[in-house]
Amino acid sequence: MNEQRNSRLKGFYKHTPQQRRDVLAAWAELDDNDLRALSGGIGLADADILVENVVGLYALPFAIAPNFIIAGRDYLLPLVIEEPSVVAAMANAARLARAGGGFETGSTEPVMIGQIQLLDVPYLDAAIVRIQSRKQELLAKLAHLHPTIRRLGGGPIDLQVRKLEDTPAGPMLIVHLLLDTRDAMGANAVNTACETLSPELEAISEGRALLRILSNLSDQRQAWAACRIPVTAFASEQFSGEAVAQGIVEANAFAYADPYRAATHNKGIFNGIDAVALATGQDWRAIEAGAHAYAARDGQYRSLTEWRVESDHLVGRLQLPLAVGTVGGLTKRHPTVRVALKILGDPDARTLSEIMAAAGLAQNLAALRALVTEGIQRGHMALHERRQKVTE
Ligand code: MEV
Repeated sequence: MNEQRNSRLKGFYKHTPQQRRDVLAAWAELDDNDLRALSGGIGLADADILVENVVGLYALPFAIAPNFIIAGRDYLLPLVIEEPSVVAAMANAARLARAGGGFETGSTEPVMIGQIQLLDVPYLDAAIVRIQSRKQELLAKLAHLHPTIRRLGGGPIDLQVRKLEDTPAGPMLIVHLLLDTRDAMGANAVNTACETLSPELEAISEGRALLRILSNLSDQRQAWAACRIPVTAFASEQFSGEAVAQGIVEANAFAYADPYRAATHNKGIFNGIDAVALATGQDWRAIEAGAHAYAARDGQYRSLTEWRVESDHLVGRLQLPLAVGTVGGLTKRHPTVRVALKILGDPDARTLSEIMAAAGLAQNLAALRALVTEGIQRGHMALHERRQKVTE
């Protein structure tokens, strides 16, 4: 993809769907097959391979949010979503963020956690010492697994042991296997590795292995996005830029301090993240489970974002666990997913997670801006009415 391409598509929303497809095809160099995949998706036979008892297919709108600059590069974001206002809101937020250079992003290495539960361990502390002293030997037992991940520089990283002394089923040891899964989401790789290690861990701990499964609280695999927007960019006839920016900071404080508000605040973030996740074939339940657990990491469920005013700029940041893959899963099997990834320039998994963090932050910015000014219903209801007219 041409790195110099400009994603600021003025008036994109005024086009017909066919005109938008033409603009998109030229922008992302889509061919006829890609365009067919954009209105086709998978057939019944493919669906029947994916899950059990298939009787049909289910389509949702596939839309584009223009205007994004993420890590200095222009993007059109592919969004699959049924809720009115979300796409328009993200396009607007991305346009605002452009005034400050767009979204800066980053991510950790793609390290996933697998858990092995050990019960009936006679001496917990002694078992911890024994497991830790044989860590390298245990990790070496995984050497034959996941050749592709290893070839790309991934593989097992560490073993950590946690003691849960007071559970309804009594004390237990929990072994965490940390595995760098590179561009794979990694659930299968992690589960296989956990099952491979568990007999050895049973022998060393003199206990009984029960669960051997990935943790969706993938807090070793995080992505973040930040933006810094001049306060003047928020000025309108009715509201000063300072009042809007200050309102966003106050709204964020509400979500930080109150779980009832935090749930709604974070739901808005997932309007953006899930829409990209669906378009790109990700396990959005895994992403949500991890992020919501992370939002409650200090014992209270809180906002995932931070907003503050600093030197006449509104500064925002979103950081969360984001376990996504650009190989495996639906990425090869679903033609529309392949096109979504192509529109994004075929990113690796880390880049995709960073794009999703930017999508979440953009959606939060748009929601808070609407909430602290005219309220959410005006724009929402206008789109709702449009939908009513079309269906009447
Ligand atoms: C609606 O889908 C999402 C919002 O409620 C998010 C928020 O309140 O921050 C608008």
